Amino acid sequence: MLAPRNARSPLTYAGLALAIIIFIYYRPWSAATSISTFTGKSSITPANATLGFGGLYVVSGPGSPRRQHLEEAAAVTELQLRIPTQATWTDEDVRNFRPANEAETRVLTGSVKAWLSHHLVLREFLESGDETAVIFEDDIDWDIRLRTQQIPLAQQAAQALSGAPDLDTKQYPWGLPTGWDLFYVGHCGDYFGDVEKGTGVGYSHPDQLANTPHVLYKDPTMLPRTDLHPFTASILTAFNIPDQTRLVHQSKWPLCTFGYAITRRTAERILNEIAPAHEDPSRNIIAYDAAILSGCRDGPLKCYTVTPELFHHMEGESLIADMEATERQIFRPPVDAAGLEQVKYRKETSNIACGFFDGSFYYNGDQDRLAYLREEVGRKGKCLKGSR
Ligand SMILES: *[C@@H]1O[C@H](CO)[C@@H](O)[C@H](O)[C@H]1NC(C)=O
Repeated sequence: MLAPRNARSPLTYAGLALAIIIFIYYRPWSAATSISTFTGKSSITPANATLGFGGLYVVSGPGSPRRQHLEEAAAVTELQLRIPTQATWTDEDVRNFRPANEAETRVLTGSVKAWLSHHLVLREFLESGDETAVIFEDDIDWDIRLRTQQIPLAQQAAQALSGAPDLDTKQYPWGLPTGWDLFYVGHCGDYFGDVEKGTGVGYSHPDQLANTPHVLYKDPTMLPRTDLHPFTASILTAFNIPDQTRLVHQSKWPLCTFGYAITRRTAERILNEIAPAHEDPSRNIIAYDAAILSGCRDGPLKCYTVTPELFHHMEGESLIADMEATERQIFRPPVDAAGLEQVKYRKETSNIACGFFDGSFYYNGDQDRLAYLREEVGRKGKCLKGSR
């Protein structure tokens, strides 16, 4: 089981971090890999089409305009998605969700419907017999090297954290599903505290990380610090993490639910206990993601976060074409607002190095173009954009 690191060893933070990195590099089951694995000339095996989970499920409303682009991005990366048919939630469904005294409700109608849509997908996962699943929202973006590099590296970190030496890593690439309840692979940041009160340098300190079970690992696909979302850059700096290094750590304050992996038991607990489809106003929870956050931060769930995240939600695709108009109309939560200038400048989604947001890798049904993109972009990981 995981023990806080400082309870185990008198090593300094830096020394122990180095020891853990070396431990990842040289663990026996990865004997075939070497440091070169972590610098991009990789002999690591790509993750399978469901990223080593039982299935990839998507919450996508009827007639969602994002659907075609999501499916095209998945085809280029060769991901196998399941997109359950969503219900059109009625006023009555919304009323049934709300407390008996509707005036006490804290959840806006749109958030009630999103909540119910997540439930529908959780039930479909439970009916499938899959042992684990990732639940995605349909506006996610990811890097073209997701399957070939990012996921295999994150899996190795998860295995190291699981502390099970004779783990069957083919069957359980993310560690035994009895060892974790939820993995945040897509989120808007886990800033180890309330983002509204401040994040990163000046708020967090290496001790905070040292007291949290975690593993560091090199990921050559990671953006340089100056191109990361400002909050992400700041917390990595506050923790004194080297460049091109990710963390898998026990979740502290994970925001948003656009990519979370769960086990069957977790799905049942979310439905019945963590985020049931009936509002309890005394909990003061305003949305589904806040209920999951609370299940991770305050218990009972055992959750882990990959930082920086491997999936991030896209800004509306009209952003680049029509920046000013979009800005006037849309209210953005603080994390999105802080990342907006950089998204415009980079023409990429926050924390994604080479993704699908700018439309370069959509193929509009053209099968020849798909075959080309699959090979060059998906498998070889070439970012065929402008000068890159
Ligand atoms: C990917 O690997 C996981 C874990 O071994 C397995 O459950 C899943 O069925 C595999 N997916 C595919 C598409 O083969």
